[in-house]
Amino acid sequence: MASSPAPRPFGTTKDGAAVQLYTLTNRNGMKAEITNYGATVVRLLVPDRAGKLDDVVLGFPSLDGYTSDAFRKSNPYFGAIVGRFGNRIAHAAFTLQGKTYQLAANNTPGDLPCSLHGGLKGFDQVVWEAKQVKRNGADCLQMRYVSKSGEEGYPGNLRVTVSFSLTPDNGLKIHYSATTDQATPVNLTHHGYFNLKGEGNGDILGHQLTLQASRFTPVDKGLIPTGELRPVKGGPFDFLAAHTIGERILAQDEQLGFGQGYDHNWVLDRKKRGLTLAATVEEPTSGRRMEVFTTEPGIQFYAGNFLDGTLVGKAGQAYPRRSGFCLETQHYPDSPNQPQFPSTILWPGRVYRTTTVYRFSAK
Ligand code: GLA
Repeated sequence: MASSPAPRPFGTTKDGAAVQLYTLTNRNGMKAEITNYGATVVRLLVPDRAGKLDDVVLGFPSLDGYTSDAFRKSNPYFGAIVGRFGNRIAHAAFTLQGKTYQLAANNTPGDLPCSLHGGLKGFDQVVWEAKQVKRNGADCLQMRYVSKSGEEGYPGNLRVTVSFSLTPDNGLKIHYSATTDQATPVNLTHHGYFNLKGEGNGDILGHQLTLQASRFTPVDKGLIPTGELRPVKGGPFDFLAAHTIGERILAQDEQLGFGQGYDHNWVLDRKKRGLTLAATVEEPTSGRRMEVFTTEPGIQFYAGNFLDGTLVGKAGQAYPRRSGFCLETQHYPDSPNQPQFPSTILWPGRVYRTTTVYRFSAK
Protein backbone atom coordinates (compact mmCIF):
# COMPACT_ATOMS: atom_id res chain seq x y z
CA MET A 1 0.00 0.00 0.00
CA ALA A 2 1.25 3.49 -0.85
CA SER A 3 2.56 5.45 2.07
CA SER A 4 0.87 8.61 3.37
CA PRO A 5 1.52 11.83 1.45
CA ALA A 6 4.01 14.18 3.10
CA PRO A 7 2.43 16.82 5.35
CA ARG A 8 2.14 20.39 4.03
CA PRO A 9 2.85 23.59 5.98
CA PHE A 10 -0.38 24.98 7.49
CA GLY A 11 0.97 28.08 9.27
CA THR A 12 2.89 29.29 12.30
CA THR A 13 1.37 29.87 15.74
CA LYS A 14 1.71 33.18 17.60
CA ASP A 15 4.44 31.44 19.69
CA GLY A 16 6.37 30.64 16.51
CA ALA A 17 5.60 26.91 16.18
CA ALA A 18 5.21 25.66 12.60
CA VAL A 19 2.19 23.38 12.20
CA GLN A 20 1.39 20.97 9.39
CA LEU A 21 -1.58 19.63 7.48
CA TYR A 22 -1.71 15.83 7.13
CA THR A 23 -3.78 13.90 4.60
CA LEU A 24 -5.55 10.57 4.99
CA THR A 25 -7.26 8.90 2.03
CA ASN A 26 -8.98 5.57 1.49
CA ARG A 27 -9.48 3.56 -1.66
CA ASN A 28 -12.94 5.10 -2.29
CA GLY A 29 -11.46 8.57 -2.56
CA MET A 30 -12.63 9.72 0.86
CA LYS A 31 -10.14 12.22 2.19
CA ALA A 32 -9.45 13.87 5.55
CA GLU A 33 -7.04 16.73 6.15
CA ILE A 34 -6.00 17.19 9.75
CA THR A 35 -3.64 19.68 11.36
CA ASN A 36 -1.62 19.09 14.49
CA TYR A 37 -2.84 22.47 15.80
CA GLY A 38 -5.65 21.35 18.10
CA ALA A 39 -5.66 17.93 16.36
CA THR A 40 -8.20 19.64 14.12
CA VAL A 41 -10.02 18.06 11.16
CA VAL A 42 -9.82 20.85 8.58
CA ARG A 43 -11.40 19.10 5.57
CA LEU A 44 -13.45 15.95 5.16
CA LEU A 45 -14.36 14.99 1.60
CA VAL A 46 -17.08 12.38 1.19
CA PRO A 47 -19.21 11.34 -1.84
CA ASP A 48 -22.84 12.28 -2.43
CA ARG A 49 -25.32 9.93 -4.16
CA ALA A 50 -23.74 10.71 -7.57
CA GLY A 51 -20.25 10.02 -6.24
CA LYS A 52 -19.34 13.72 -6.10
CA LEU A 53 -16.95 14.61 -3.30
CA ASP A 54 -17.72 17.62 -1.12
CA ASP A 55 -16.11 18.93 2.01
CA VAL A 56 -18.66 18.34 4.79
CA VAL A 57 -16.98 20.09 7.73
CA LEU A 58 -16.65 23.75 8.69
CA GLY A 59 -13.15 25.19 8.94
CA PHE A 60 -10.52 27.52 7.53
CA PRO A 61 -7.99 27.23 4.69
CA SER A 62 -4.99 27.98 6.92
CA LEU A 63 -3.95 28.30 10.55
CA ASP A 64 -4.67 32.04 10.61
CA GLY A 65 -8.41 31.36 10.60
CA TYR A 66 -8.08 29.27 13.77
CA THR A 67 -5.90 31.80 15.62
CA SER A 68 -7.68 34.99 14.46
CA ASP A 69 -9.18 37.32 17.07
CA ALA A 70 -12.66 36.83 15.56
CA PHE A 71 -12.38 33.05 15.98
CA ARG A 72 -10.89 33.26 19.48
CA LYS A 73 -13.67 35.64 20.55
CA SER A 74 -16.57 33.40 19.56
CA ASN A 75 -14.52 30.19 19.82
CA PRO A 76 -16.73 27.58 18.17
CA TYR A 77 -13.92 24.94 18.37
CA PHE A 78 -14.26 24.03 14.67
CA GLY A 79 -13.09 20.45 14.12
CA ALA A 80 -10.82 20.33 17.16
CA ILE A 81 -10.19 17.74 19.84
CA VAL A 82 -11.43 19.28 23.06
CA GLY A 83 -10.01 18.47 26.48
CA ARG A 84 -8.86 17.86 29.13
CA PHE A 85 -12.59 18.03 29.87
CA GLY A 86 -15.02 18.44 26.99
CA ASN A 87 -18.25 20.29 27.88
CA ARG A 88 -19.05 22.26 31.04
CA ILE A 89 -18.01 22.06 34.68
CA ALA A 90 -20.28 24.07 37.00
CA HIS A 91 -18.77 27.07 38.85
CA ALA A 92 -15.48 26.15 37.12
CA ALA A 93 -14.52 23.96 40.10
CA PHE A 94 -14.58 20.37 41.28
CA THR A 95 -13.44 18.43 44.34
CA LEU A 96 -11.43 15.24 44.05
CA GLN A 97 -10.00 13.20 46.93
CA GLY A 98 -10.85 16.03 49.35
CA LYS A 99 -9.12 18.75 47.36
CA THR A 100 -10.94 21.50 45.44
CA TYR A 101 -9.55 22.49 42.07
CA GLN A 102 -10.36 25.89 40.63
CA LEU A 103 -10.49 26.23 36.83
CA ALA A 104 -10.78 29.31 34.64
CA ALA A 105 -14.40 30.38 34.15
CA ASN A 106 -14.22 30.85 30.37
CA ASN A 107 -17.96 30.62 29.65
CA THR A 108 -21.01 32.33 31.19
CA PRO A 109 -24.31 31.14 29.70
CA GLY A 110 -27.24 32.80 31.53
CA ASP A 111 -24.57 34.88 33.36
CA LEU A 112 -23.53 31.76 35.29
CA PRO A 113 -19.76 31.15 35.09
CA CYS A 114 -18.50 27.68 34.22
CA SER A 115 -15.48 26.02 32.67
CA LEU A 116 -16.02 25.00 29.04
CA HIS A 117 -13.96 22.59 26.92
CA GLY A 118 -10.76 22.50 28.97
CA GLY A 119 -10.36 26.17 29.85
CA LEU A 120 -8.62 29.22 28.41
CA LYS A 121 -6.13 27.21 26.40
CA GLY A 122 -7.57 23.75 25.97
CA PHE A 123 -6.37 20.91 23.76
CA ASP A 124 -7.98 22.69 20.79
CA GLN A 125 -5.24 25.35 20.92
CA VAL A 126 -2.11 23.32 21.59
CA VAL A 127 0.36 21.91 19.09
CA TRP A 128 0.23 18.12 19.07
CA GLU A 129 3.13 15.88 18.05
CA ALA A 130 2.01 14.04 14.91
CA LYS A 131 3.22 10.75 13.52
CA GLN A 132 2.06 8.87 10.41
CA VAL A 133 1.92 5.15 11.19
CA LYS A 134 0.36 1.95 9.80
CA ARG A 135 -2.32 0.14 11.81
CA ASN A 136 -3.48 -3.21 10.39
CA GLY A 137 -2.23 -2.11 6.97
CA ALA A 138 -4.13 1.20 7.03
CA ASP A 139 -2.68 4.70 7.32
CA CYS A 140 -3.17 6.18 10.73
CA LEU A 141 -2.35 9.64 11.98
CA GLN A 142 -1.31 9.59 15.61
CA MET A 143 -1.37 12.81 17.61
CA ARG A 144 0.23 13.02 21.04
CA TYR A 145 0.10 15.68 23.70
CA VAL A 146 1.38 15.80 27.26
CA SER A 147 -0.74 18.04 29.46
CA LYS A 148 1.39 18.98 32.47
CA SER A 149 0.05 18.75 36.00
CA GLY A 150 -1.51 22.12 36.86
CA GLU A 151 -2.21 23.05 33.23
CA GLU A 152 -5.56 24.85 33.19
CA GLY A 153 -5.87 23.95 36.88
CA TYR A 154 -6.13 20.16 36.43
CA PRO A 155 -4.11 17.68 38.52
CA GLY A 156 -1.75 15.08 37.07
CA ASN A 157 0.53 14.84 34.05
CA LEU A 158 -1.83 13.50 31.39
CA ARG A 159 -0.39 11.77 28.33
CA VAL A 160 -2.93 11.75 25.52
CA THR A 161 -2.90 9.98 22.16
CA VAL A 162 -5.59 10.58 19.55
CA SER A 163 -5.41 8.41 16.40
CA PHE A 164 -7.27 9.21 13.21
CA SER A 165 -7.82 6.74 10.38
CA LEU A 166 -10.24 6.15 7.49
CA THR A 167 -12.00 2.80 7.33
CA PRO A 168 -12.67 0.95 4.03
CA ASP A 169 -16.42 1.70 4.50
CA ASN A 170 -15.87 5.49 4.63
CA GLY A 171 -15.61 5.98 8.37
CA LEU A 172 -13.48 8.59 10.05
CA LYS A 173 -12.32 6.65 13.08
CA ILE A 174 -11.01 8.50 16.11
CA HIS A 175 -9.41 6.51 18.91
CA TYR A 176 -8.50 8.26 22.16
CA SER A 177 -6.21 7.01 24.90
CA ALA A 178 -4.66 8.62 27.97
CA THR A 179 -2.76 7.85 31.15
CA THR A 180 -2.08 9.99 34.20
CA ASP A 181 0.16 10.04 37.29
CA GLN A 182 -2.56 11.57 39.53
CA ALA A 183 -6.33 11.17 39.55
CA THR A 184 -7.95 13.68 37.17
CA PRO A 185 -11.17 14.19 35.25
CA VAL A 186 -10.82 13.39 31.51
CA ASN A 187 -13.51 13.77 28.86
CA LEU A 188 -12.14 14.01 25.32
CA THR A 189 -14.25 14.64 22.25
CA HIS A 190 -14.13 15.76 18.63
CA HIS A 191 -15.86 19.08 17.93
CA GLY A 192 -16.47 18.77 14.17
CA TYR A 193 -19.24 20.88 12.62
CA PHE A 194 -20.93 18.94 9.84
CA ASN A 195 -23.00 20.12 6.92
CA LEU A 196 -23.77 17.16 4.67
CA LYS A 197 -24.72 19.49 1.79
CA GLY A 198 -21.11 20.71 1.88
CA GLU A 199 -19.61 23.42 4.08
CA GLY A 200 -20.71 26.95 3.28
CA ASN A 201 -23.87 25.62 1.64
CA GLY A 202 -26.61 27.07 3.83
CA ASP A 203 -28.11 25.82 7.07
CA ILE A 204 -28.50 22.32 8.49
CA LEU A 205 -32.19 22.60 9.45
CA GLY A 206 -33.32 20.15 6.74
CA HIS A 207 -30.96 17.38 7.91
CA GLN A 208 -32.85 14.41 9.37
CA LEU A 209 -31.52 13.26 12.72
CA THR A 210 -32.04 10.06 14.66
CA LEU A 211 -30.55 9.64 18.14
CA GLN A 212 -30.42 6.28 19.90
CA ALA A 213 -31.39 7.89 23.18
CA SER A 214 -34.60 7.67 25.24
CA ARG A 215 -33.38 10.24 27.77
CA PHE A 216 -31.39 13.46 27.89
CA THR A 217 -29.80 15.52 30.63
CA PRO A 218 -31.88 18.72 31.03
CA VAL A 219 -29.90 21.79 32.05
CA ASP A 220 -30.32 24.96 34.10
CA LYS A 221 -29.92 28.38 32.48
CA GLY A 222 -26.13 28.03 32.85
CA LEU A 223 -26.34 24.89 30.62
CA ILE A 224 -25.32 22.69 33.56
CA PRO A 225 -27.26 19.39 33.94
CA THR A 226 -29.77 19.42 36.77
CA GLY A 227 -28.93 15.76 37.47
CA GLU A 228 -32.20 14.45 36.04
CA LEU A 229 -32.22 11.92 33.19
CA ARG A 230 -35.44 13.02 31.51
CA PRO A 231 -37.38 10.84 29.05
CA VAL A 232 -37.53 12.45 25.59
CA LYS A 233 -40.78 10.76 24.62
CA GLY A 234 -43.03 12.84 22.41
CA GLY A 235 -41.27 16.17 22.96
CA PRO A 236 -38.85 18.21 20.83
CA PHE A 237 -35.92 16.18 22.22
CA ASP A 238 -37.37 12.92 20.90
CA PHE A 239 -35.18 11.85 17.96
CA LEU A 240 -35.82 8.11 18.46
CA ALA A 241 -37.43 8.29 15.01
CA ALA A 242 -35.97 10.66 12.40
CA HIS A 243 -36.96 14.34 12.54
CA THR A 244 -35.40 17.27 10.74
CA ILE A 245 -33.25 19.42 12.99
CA GLY A 246 -35.44 22.41 12.11
CA GLU A 247 -38.85 20.82 12.74
CA ARG A 248 -39.13 21.63 16.45
CA ILE A 249 -36.08 23.81 17.13
CA LEU A 250 -38.26 26.93 17.54
CA ALA A 251 -40.84 25.18 19.77
CA GLN A 252 -41.82 26.94 23.00
CA ASP A 253 -39.80 24.84 25.37
CA GLU A 254 -37.79 25.88 28.41
CA GLN A 255 -34.85 23.61 27.51
CA LEU A 256 -34.66 24.89 23.93
CA GLY A 257 -34.79 28.41 25.38
CA PHE A 258 -31.78 27.76 27.64
CA GLY A 259 -29.74 26.36 24.74
CA GLN A 260 -31.06 28.87 22.17
CA GLY A 261 -31.88 25.69 20.28
CA TYR A 262 -30.44 22.20 20.69
CA ASP A 263 -27.29 22.24 22.81
CA HIS A 264 -27.80 19.25 25.10
CA ASN A 265 -26.42 15.88 26.06
CA TRP A 266 -28.44 12.78 25.21
CA VAL A 267 -28.06 9.59 27.27
CA LEU A 268 -27.38 6.78 24.83
CA ASP A 269 -29.50 3.60 25.04
CA ARG A 270 -26.60 1.25 25.36
CA LYS A 271 -27.35 -2.48 25.37
CA LYS A 272 -23.73 -3.59 25.48
CA ARG A 273 -20.25 -2.22 25.90
CA GLY A 274 -18.20 -1.34 22.86
CA LEU A 275 -18.84 0.57 19.67
CA THR A 276 -22.60 1.18 19.27
CA LEU A 277 -24.70 3.27 16.89
CA ALA A 278 -25.50 6.58 18.57
CA ALA A 279 -26.79 8.85 15.79
CA THR A 280 -27.79 8.87 12.12
CA VAL A 281 -28.07 12.01 10.02
CA GLU A 282 -29.49 12.07 6.47
CA GLU A 283 -29.45 15.01 4.10
CA PRO A 284 -32.12 14.60 1.38
CA THR A 285 -30.68 16.83 -1.39
CA SER A 286 -27.19 15.26 -1.55
CA GLY A 287 -28.33 11.82 -0.33
CA ARG A 288 -25.45 11.81 2.16
CA ARG A 289 -25.83 9.93 5.39
CA MET A 290 -23.60 10.01 8.45
CA GLU A 291 -23.75 7.43 11.20
CA VAL A 292 -21.99 7.98 14.50
CA PHE A 293 -20.77 4.96 16.46
CA THR A 294 -19.17 5.36 19.86
CA THR A 295 -18.06 3.64 23.03
CA GLU A 296 -19.14 6.69 25.06
CA PRO A 297 -22.28 6.91 27.24
CA GLY A 298 -23.48 10.30 25.91
CA ILE A 299 -23.64 12.59 22.91
CA GLN A 300 -23.92 16.38 22.84
CA PHE A 301 -26.02 17.51 19.92
CA TYR A 302 -25.31 21.18 19.27
CA ALA A 303 -27.14 22.83 16.36
CA GLY A 304 -24.61 25.63 15.74
CA ASN A 305 -26.89 28.14 17.49
CA PHE A 306 -24.05 30.52 18.35
CA LEU A 307 -22.66 30.85 14.81
CA ASP A 308 -23.54 34.33 13.59
CA GLY A 309 -22.15 34.80 10.08
CA THR A 310 -18.99 36.63 11.15
CA LEU A 311 -16.63 33.73 10.36
CA VAL A 312 -15.79 33.04 6.72
CA GLY A 313 -14.83 29.50 5.81
CA LYS A 314 -12.72 27.58 3.31
CA ALA A 315 -14.88 28.30 0.25
CA GLY A 316 -15.04 32.02 1.08
CA GLN A 317 -18.60 31.67 2.40
CA ALA A 318 -19.77 33.12 5.73
CA TYR A 319 -20.99 30.60 8.28
CA PRO A 320 -24.43 31.82 9.44
CA ARG A 321 -26.40 30.58 12.42
CA ARG A 322 -26.99 26.81 12.27
CA SER A 323 -24.81 26.24 9.20
CA GLY A 324 -23.17 23.26 10.88
CA PHE A 325 -24.11 20.83 13.65
CA CYS A 326 -21.95 18.95 16.17
CA LEU A 327 -22.38 15.45 17.55
CA GLU A 328 -19.85 15.35 20.36
CA THR A 329 -19.51 11.85 21.81
CA GLN A 330 -18.65 12.14 25.48
CA HIS A 331 -19.46 11.55 29.13
CA TYR A 332 -22.21 13.75 30.54
CA PRO A 333 -21.43 17.42 31.23
CA ASP A 334 -20.39 18.36 34.78
CA SER A 335 -19.69 14.72 35.67
CA PRO A 336 -16.91 15.68 38.13
CA ASN A 337 -19.61 17.35 40.29
CA GLN A 338 -22.36 14.78 39.74
CA PRO A 339 -21.38 11.47 41.36
CA GLN A 340 -24.53 9.75 40.07
CA PHE A 341 -23.26 10.15 36.46
CA PRO A 342 -20.78 7.62 34.97
CA SER A 343 -17.36 8.59 36.31
CA THR A 344 -14.91 10.67 34.28
CA ILE A 345 -12.04 10.22 36.74
CA LEU A 346 -8.92 8.61 35.32
CA TRP A 347 -6.74 6.98 37.97
CA PRO A 348 -2.98 6.35 37.82
CA GLY A 349 -2.31 2.83 36.50
CA ARG A 350 -5.53 2.83 34.45
CA VAL A 351 -5.84 3.60 30.74
CA TYR A 352 -8.52 5.88 29.32
CA ARG A 353 -9.71 4.42 26.00
CA THR A 354 -12.63 5.50 23.84
CA THR A 355 -13.46 5.22 20.14
CA THR A 356 -15.85 7.09 17.87
CA VAL A 357 -16.49 6.52 14.16
CA TYR A 358 -18.26 8.96 11.83
CA ARG A 359 -19.28 6.76 8.90
CA PHE A 360 -20.50 8.17 5.59
CA SER A 361 -22.66 6.70 2.83
CA ALA A 362 -25.15 8.01 0.28
CA LYS A 363 -28.44 6.88 -1.23
C1 GLA B 1 -20.33 23.18 22.75
C2 GLA B 1 -21.25 23.84 23.71
C3 GLA B 1 -21.96 25.01 23.05
C4 GLA B 1 -20.97 25.96 22.44
C5 GLA B 1 -20.04 25.18 21.52
C6 GLA B 1 -18.93 26.05 21.00
O1 GLA B 1 -20.97 22.39 21.87
O2 GLA B 1 -22.19 22.95 24.25
O3 GLA B 1 -22.72 25.66 24.01
O4 GLA B 1 -20.21 26.58 23.44
O5 GLA B 1 -19.45 24.12 22.16
O6 GLA B 1 -19.39 27.27 20.50
